[in-house]
Amino acid sequence: MSKVSIIGAGMTGSTTAHWLAEREIADLVLVDILEGMPQGKALDLLEALPIVGRDVSVVGSNDYAATKGSDIVVITAGIPRKPGMSREDLLTTNAKIVGDATTNSLEHSPDAIIIVLTNPLDTMAYLAMKVGRLPRERIVGQAGVLDSARMRAFVALETGVSVENIQCYVMGGHGDEMVPLTRHSNIAGVPLRDYLPADKLEAIVNRTRKGGGEIVNLLKTGSAYYAPAAAVAQMVEAILKDKRLVVPAAAFMQGEYGLKDIFFGAPVQLGRGGVEKVIEYKLEADEEAALEASAAAVRESIGVMMGLVKI
Ligand code: APR
Repeated sequence: MSKVSIIGAGMTGSTTAHWLAEREIADLVLVDILEGMPQGKALDLLEALPIVGRDVSVVGSNDYAATKGSDIVVITAGIPRKPGMSREDLLTTNAKIVGDATTNSLEHSPDAIIIVLTNPLDTMAYLAMKVGRLPRERIVGQAGVLDSARMRAFVALETGVSVENIQCYVMGGHGDEMVPLTRHSNIAGVPLRDYLPADKLEAIVNRTRKGGGEIVNLLKTGSAYYAPAAAVAQMVEAILKDKRLVVPAAAFMQGEYGLKDIFFGAPVQLGRGGVEKVIEYKLEADEEAALEASAAAVRESIGVMMGLVKI
Protein backbone atom coordinates (compact mmCIF):
# COMPACT_ATOMS: atom_id res chain seq x y z
CA MET A 1 0.00 0.00 0.00
CA SER A 2 1.27 3.48 -0.78
CA LYS A 3 1.70 5.97 2.04
CA VAL A 4 0.42 9.54 2.09
CA SER A 5 1.19 11.95 4.92
CA ILE A 6 -0.82 15.09 5.48
CA ILE A 7 0.86 17.90 7.39
CA GLY A 8 -1.77 20.00 9.14
CA ALA A 9 -4.75 18.01 10.41
CA GLY A 10 -7.13 20.97 10.42
CA MET A 11 -10.17 21.35 8.18
CA THR A 12 -8.47 20.79 4.82
CA GLY A 13 -6.01 18.20 6.14
CA SER A 14 -8.55 15.99 7.88
CA THR A 15 -11.03 16.32 5.02
CA THR A 16 -8.30 15.29 2.58
CA ALA A 17 -7.73 12.20 4.73
CA HIS A 18 -11.46 11.51 4.61
CA TRP A 19 -11.67 11.67 0.81
CA LEU A 20 -8.48 9.60 0.47
CA ALA A 21 -9.63 6.90 2.90
CA GLU A 22 -12.81 6.55 0.82
CA ARG A 23 -10.63 5.92 -2.23
CA GLU A 24 -8.66 3.15 -0.41
CA ILE A 25 -5.46 4.01 -2.24
CA ALA A 26 -2.98 4.70 0.56
CA ASP A 27 -2.19 4.35 4.23
CA LEU A 28 -2.59 7.75 5.83
CA VAL A 29 -0.70 9.77 8.43
CA LEU A 30 -1.98 13.05 9.88
CA VAL A 31 0.56 15.36 11.53
CA ASP A 32 -0.21 18.54 13.46
CA ILE A 33 1.39 20.64 16.17
CA LEU A 34 -1.70 20.43 18.36
CA GLU A 35 -1.32 17.60 20.84
CA GLY A 36 -3.95 14.89 20.63
CA MET A 37 -5.83 16.47 17.72
CA PRO A 38 -4.28 14.48 14.83
CA GLN A 39 -4.41 11.32 16.96
CA GLY A 40 -8.08 11.89 17.75
CA LYS A 41 -9.09 12.65 14.17
CA ALA A 42 -7.11 9.69 12.83
CA LEU A 43 -8.73 7.33 15.33
CA ASP A 44 -12.20 8.65 14.53
CA LEU A 45 -11.61 8.17 10.79
CA LEU A 46 -10.17 4.69 11.40
CA GLU A 47 -13.30 3.76 13.32
CA ALA A 48 -15.43 4.80 10.31
CA LEU A 49 -13.64 2.39 7.96
CA PRO A 50 -15.49 -0.80 9.01
CA ILE A 51 -18.74 1.00 8.13
CA VAL A 52 -17.62 2.09 4.68
CA GLY A 53 -15.59 -1.07 4.08
CA ARG A 54 -12.18 0.39 3.42
CA ASP A 55 -8.92 -1.20 4.57
CA VAL A 56 -6.24 1.42 5.08
CA SER A 57 -4.26 2.43 8.12
CA VAL A 58 -4.83 5.91 9.57
CA VAL A 59 -2.36 7.27 12.11
CA GLY A 60 -2.19 10.66 13.82
CA SER A 61 0.98 12.08 15.32
CA ASN A 62 2.82 15.20 16.46
CA ASP A 63 6.08 13.60 15.34
CA TYR A 64 7.32 13.58 11.74
CA ALA A 65 8.92 10.17 12.38
CA ALA A 66 5.43 8.73 11.73
CA THR A 67 5.62 10.02 8.14
CA LYS A 68 8.74 7.99 7.31
CA GLY A 69 8.80 6.58 3.77
CA SER A 70 5.79 8.53 2.45
CA ASP A 71 5.19 8.43 -1.30
CA ILE A 72 3.36 11.74 -1.15
CA VAL A 73 3.32 14.52 1.46
CA VAL A 74 0.43 16.99 1.40
CA ILE A 75 1.15 20.29 3.14
CA THR A 76 -1.95 22.01 4.52
CA ALA A 77 -0.38 23.37 7.71
CA GLY A 78 -0.89 27.06 8.30
CA ILE A 79 -3.60 29.57 9.05
CA PRO A 80 -6.67 29.99 6.84
CA ARG A 81 -8.33 33.27 5.82
CA LYS A 82 -10.98 35.09 7.81
CA PRO A 83 -13.41 37.64 6.32
CA GLY A 84 -11.61 40.71 5.00
CA MET A 85 -8.30 38.90 4.49
CA SER A 86 -6.67 38.18 1.15
CA ARG A 87 -4.60 35.04 0.65
CA GLU A 88 -1.54 37.30 0.67
CA ASP A 89 -2.32 38.36 4.27
CA LEU A 90 -1.39 34.82 5.31
CA LEU A 91 2.10 35.03 3.87
CA THR A 92 4.24 35.93 6.87
CA THR A 93 2.74 33.34 9.20
CA ASN A 94 2.45 30.55 6.67
CA ALA A 95 5.93 30.93 5.14
CA LYS A 96 7.60 29.79 8.36
CA ILE A 97 5.14 26.93 8.85
CA VAL A 98 5.44 25.65 5.27
CA GLY A 99 9.23 25.95 5.30
CA ASP A 100 9.46 23.86 8.48
CA ALA A 101 6.90 21.34 7.22
CA THR A 102 8.88 20.84 4.03
CA THR A 103 12.23 20.35 5.77
CA ASN A 104 10.81 17.97 8.39
CA SER A 105 8.87 15.94 5.83
CA LEU A 106 11.80 15.49 3.46
CA GLU A 107 14.03 14.41 6.33
CA HIS A 108 11.86 11.32 6.76
CA SER A 109 10.70 10.87 3.14
CA PRO A 110 13.52 12.12 0.92
CA ASP A 111 11.88 10.81 -2.27
CA ALA A 112 8.34 12.04 -1.61
CA ILE A 113 6.32 14.08 -4.07
CA ILE A 114 4.95 17.16 -2.31
CA ILE A 115 1.52 18.67 -2.89
CA VAL A 116 1.06 22.13 -1.35
CA LEU A 117 -2.35 23.46 -0.36
CA THR A 118 -1.41 26.21 2.09
CA ASN A 119 -2.03 29.78 0.90
CA PRO A 120 -0.87 31.99 -0.68
CA LEU A 121 -0.59 28.90 -2.81
CA ASP A 122 1.79 29.76 -5.62
CA THR A 123 4.22 31.44 -3.23
CA MET A 124 4.10 28.60 -0.69
CA ALA A 125 4.78 26.04 -3.44
CA TYR A 126 7.74 28.14 -4.59
CA LEU A 127 9.04 28.32 -1.03
CA ALA A 128 8.71 24.56 -0.50
CA MET A 129 10.54 23.85 -3.75
CA LYS A 130 13.44 26.13 -2.82
CA VAL A 131 13.63 25.00 0.82
CA GLY A 132 13.49 21.34 -0.21
CA ARG A 133 15.78 21.82 -3.23
CA LEU A 134 13.30 19.79 -5.21
CA PRO A 135 13.23 19.16 -8.95
CA ARG A 136 10.07 20.59 -10.47
CA GLU A 137 8.62 17.13 -11.04
CA ARG A 138 8.31 16.54 -7.32
CA ILE A 139 6.35 19.58 -6.25
CA VAL A 140 2.94 20.78 -7.29
CA GLY A 141 0.38 23.16 -5.84
CA GLN A 142 -3.32 22.53 -5.63
CA ALA A 143 -5.44 25.40 -6.84
CA GLY A 144 -6.58 24.89 -10.43
CA VAL A 145 -8.61 21.74 -9.82
CA LEU A 146 -10.50 23.65 -7.15
CA ASP A 147 -10.96 26.86 -9.13
CA SER A 148 -12.09 24.88 -12.19
CA ALA A 149 -14.47 22.78 -10.06
CA ARG A 150 -16.01 25.96 -8.69
CA MET A 151 -16.57 27.22 -12.22
CA ARG A 152 -18.01 23.82 -13.26
CA ALA A 153 -20.39 23.89 -10.30
CA PHE A 154 -21.59 27.41 -11.18
CA VAL A 155 -22.13 26.40 -14.82
CA ALA A 156 -24.10 23.35 -13.65
CA LEU A 157 -26.26 25.55 -11.40
CA GLU A 158 -26.94 27.90 -14.31
CA THR A 159 -27.66 25.27 -16.98
CA GLY A 160 -28.97 22.28 -15.06
CA VAL A 161 -26.57 20.02 -16.98
CA SER A 162 -24.65 17.26 -15.16
CA VAL A 163 -21.35 18.39 -13.69
CA GLU A 164 -19.82 15.41 -15.49
CA ASN A 165 -20.55 17.04 -18.86
CA ILE A 166 -19.03 20.35 -17.87
CA GLN A 167 -15.34 20.98 -18.48
CA CYS A 168 -13.83 24.25 -17.33
CA TYR A 169 -10.24 25.37 -17.22
CA VAL A 170 -8.89 28.03 -14.89
CA MET A 171 -5.27 29.05 -15.27
CA GLY A 172 -2.97 31.47 -13.52
CA GLY A 173 -2.20 32.28 -9.91
CA HIS A 174 -4.60 31.31 -7.13
CA GLY A 175 -5.77 34.86 -6.48
CA ASP A 176 -8.47 37.17 -7.71
CA GLU A 177 -6.50 37.64 -10.95
CA MET A 178 -6.87 33.96 -11.87
CA VAL A 179 -7.86 33.39 -15.49
CA PRO A 180 -10.97 31.29 -16.23
CA LEU A 181 -10.51 30.26 -19.87
CA THR A 182 -14.01 30.48 -21.27
CA ARG A 183 -12.80 29.77 -24.81
CA HIS A 184 -11.48 26.34 -23.76
CA SER A 185 -14.39 25.48 -21.45
CA ASN A 186 -17.33 23.48 -22.77
CA ILE A 187 -20.49 21.54 -22.04
CA ALA A 188 -20.36 18.10 -23.68
CA GLY A 189 -18.11 19.59 -26.37
CA VAL A 190 -20.23 22.70 -26.98
CA PRO A 191 -18.14 25.81 -26.25
CA LEU A 192 -19.38 27.60 -23.15
CA ARG A 193 -19.47 30.87 -25.09
CA ASP A 194 -22.05 29.32 -27.47
CA TYR A 195 -24.11 27.83 -24.65
CA LEU A 196 -24.48 30.80 -22.32
CA PRO A 197 -25.18 34.49 -23.02
CA ALA A 198 -22.19 36.77 -22.42
CA ASP A 199 -23.59 38.39 -19.26
CA LYS A 200 -24.27 35.03 -17.60
CA LEU A 201 -20.80 33.81 -18.53
CA GLU A 202 -19.20 36.95 -17.16
CA ALA A 203 -21.08 36.54 -13.89
CA ILE A 204 -19.79 32.95 -13.62
CA VAL A 205 -16.22 34.07 -14.33
CA ASN A 206 -16.43 36.73 -11.62
CA ARG A 207 -17.97 34.37 -9.08
CA THR A 208 -15.24 31.81 -9.83
CA ARG A 209 -12.50 34.38 -9.25
CA LYS A 210 -13.98 35.27 -5.88
CA GLY A 211 -15.11 31.72 -5.06
CA GLY A 212 -12.77 31.30 -2.09
CA GLY A 213 -13.80 34.65 -0.61
CA GLU A 214 -17.49 33.79 -0.97
CA ILE A 215 -16.99 30.78 1.29
CA VAL A 216 -14.80 32.70 3.77
CA ASN A 217 -17.52 35.35 4.12
CA LEU A 218 -20.14 32.69 4.80
CA LEU A 219 -18.08 30.58 7.22
CA LYS A 220 -16.57 33.61 9.02
CA THR A 221 -14.12 31.48 11.03
CA GLY A 222 -12.08 29.86 8.26
CA SER A 223 -11.92 28.98 4.59
CA ALA A 224 -13.20 26.26 2.26
CA TYR A 225 -12.24 22.66 2.87
CA TYR A 226 -14.50 20.10 1.15
CA ALA A 227 -13.65 21.15 -2.38
CA PRO A 228 -9.94 21.93 -1.79
CA ALA A 229 -9.53 18.54 -0.11
CA ALA A 230 -11.39 16.70 -2.88
CA ALA A 231 -9.06 18.38 -5.37
CA VAL A 232 -6.00 17.15 -3.48
CA ALA A 233 -7.43 13.62 -3.35
CA GLN A 234 -7.86 13.60 -7.13
CA MET A 235 -4.26 14.72 -7.58
CA VAL A 236 -2.95 12.09 -5.12
CA GLU A 237 -4.86 9.37 -6.96
CA ALA A 238 -3.54 10.52 -10.34
CA ILE A 239 0.02 10.26 -9.05
CA LEU A 240 -0.27 6.96 -7.15
CA LYS A 241 -2.14 5.26 -10.01
CA ASP A 242 0.19 6.78 -12.61
CA LYS A 243 -2.87 8.01 -14.48
CA ARG A 244 -1.17 10.76 -16.45
CA LEU A 245 -4.21 12.84 -15.71
CA VAL A 246 -4.10 16.38 -17.01
CA VAL A 247 -5.38 18.77 -14.35
CA PRO A 248 -5.00 22.49 -13.82
CA ALA A 249 -2.39 22.84 -11.07
CA ALA A 250 0.41 25.11 -9.94
CA ALA A 251 3.75 24.04 -11.38
CA PHE A 252 7.17 25.64 -11.58
CA MET A 253 7.37 27.38 -14.92
CA GLN A 254 10.43 26.78 -17.06
CA GLY A 255 9.60 28.94 -20.04
CA GLU A 256 6.05 27.69 -20.59
CA TYR A 257 3.69 30.55 -21.38
CA GLY A 258 6.78 32.77 -21.48
CA LEU A 259 7.13 32.43 -17.70
CA LYS A 260 10.16 31.46 -15.65
CA ASP A 261 11.00 31.03 -11.98
CA ILE A 262 7.45 31.24 -10.64
CA PHE A 263 4.74 28.74 -9.73
CA PHE A 264 1.71 29.25 -11.90
CA GLY A 265 -1.53 27.45 -12.63
CA ALA A 266 -1.45 25.60 -15.94
CA PRO A 267 -2.60 22.24 -17.31
CA VAL A 268 -0.24 19.71 -15.77
CA GLN A 269 0.10 16.00 -16.49
CA LEU A 270 0.26 14.05 -13.22
CA GLY A 271 1.64 10.52 -13.03
CA ARG A 272 3.94 8.45 -10.84
CA GLY A 273 6.76 10.82 -11.68
CA GLY A 274 4.74 13.74 -10.33
CA VAL A 275 4.58 16.73 -12.67
CA GLU A 276 5.43 14.93 -15.90
CA LYS A 277 4.52 17.69 -18.30
CA VAL A 278 3.17 21.23 -18.43
CA ILE A 279 0.83 21.55 -21.38
CA GLU A 280 0.72 24.76 -23.35
CA TYR A 281 -2.46 26.14 -24.85
CA LYS A 282 -2.28 28.45 -27.81
CA LEU A 283 -3.60 31.65 -26.32
CA GLU A 284 -5.17 34.73 -27.82
CA ALA A 285 -3.94 38.23 -27.02
CA ASP A 286 -6.57 38.99 -24.35
CA GLU A 287 -5.88 35.66 -22.61
CA GLU A 288 -2.14 36.34 -22.66
CA ALA A 289 -2.67 39.77 -21.16
CA ALA A 290 -4.84 38.32 -18.37
CA LEU A 291 -2.22 35.68 -17.62
CA GLU A 292 0.52 38.30 -17.52
CA ALA A 293 -1.48 40.32 -14.96
CA SER A 294 -1.93 37.19 -12.87
CA ALA A 295 1.79 36.34 -13.17
CA ALA A 296 2.68 39.85 -12.02
CA ALA A 297 0.64 39.31 -8.84
CA VAL A 298 2.39 35.99 -8.16
CA ARG A 299 5.81 37.53 -8.81
CA GLU A 300 5.08 40.31 -6.36
CA SER A 301 4.02 37.82 -3.69
CA ILE A 302 7.15 35.72 -4.21
CA GLY A 303 9.22 38.91 -3.97
CA VAL A 304 7.66 39.77 -0.60
CA MET A 305 8.20 36.22 0.66
CA MET A 306 11.87 36.21 -0.40
CA GLY A 307 12.33 39.36 1.67
CA LEU A 308 10.95 37.57 4.73
CA VAL A 309 12.50 34.14 4.56
CA LYS A 310 16.13 33.07 4.22
CA ILE A 311 16.41 30.18 1.81
N1 APR B 1 3.11 22.06 11.82
C1 APR B 1 2.01 21.27 11.67
N2 APR B 1 0.76 21.76 11.70
C2 APR B 1 0.60 23.07 11.89
C3 APR B 1 1.70 23.94 12.06
C4 APR B 1 3.00 23.39 12.01
N3 APR B 1 4.08 24.14 12.15
N4 APR B 1 1.21 25.19 12.22
C5 APR B 1 -0.13 25.12 12.17
N5 APR B 1 -0.49 23.83 11.97
C6 APR B 1 -1.84 23.28 11.87
C7 APR B 1 -2.83 23.92 12.84
O1 APR B 1 -2.67 23.42 14.15
C8 APR B 1 -4.16 23.52 12.21
O2 APR B 1 -4.67 22.32 12.77
O3 APR B 1 -2.40 23.51 10.59
C9 APR B 1 -3.80 23.28 10.73
C10 APR B 1 -4.55 24.20 9.78
O4 APR B 1 -5.88 23.85 9.85
P1 APR B 1 -7.06 24.92 9.83
O5 APR B 1 -6.76 26.02 10.77
O6 APR B 1 -8.33 24.17 10.00
O7 APR B 1 -6.96 25.55 8.35
P2 APR B 1 -7.40 24.88 6.97
O8 APR B 1 -8.78 25.32 6.63
O9 APR B 1 -7.09 23.44 6.97
O10 APR B 1 -6.44 25.65 5.96
C11 APR B 1 -5.04 25.41 5.98
O11 APR B 1 -4.86 25.53 3.62
O12 APR B 1 -6.46 26.06 2.05
C12 APR B 1 -5.38 26.52 2.77
O13 APR B 1 -5.79 28.89 2.99
C13 APR B 1 -5.77 27.66 3.67
O14 APR B 1 -3.57 28.31 4.31
C14 APR B 1 -4.70 27.60 4.71
C15 APR B 1 -4.39 26.10 4.80
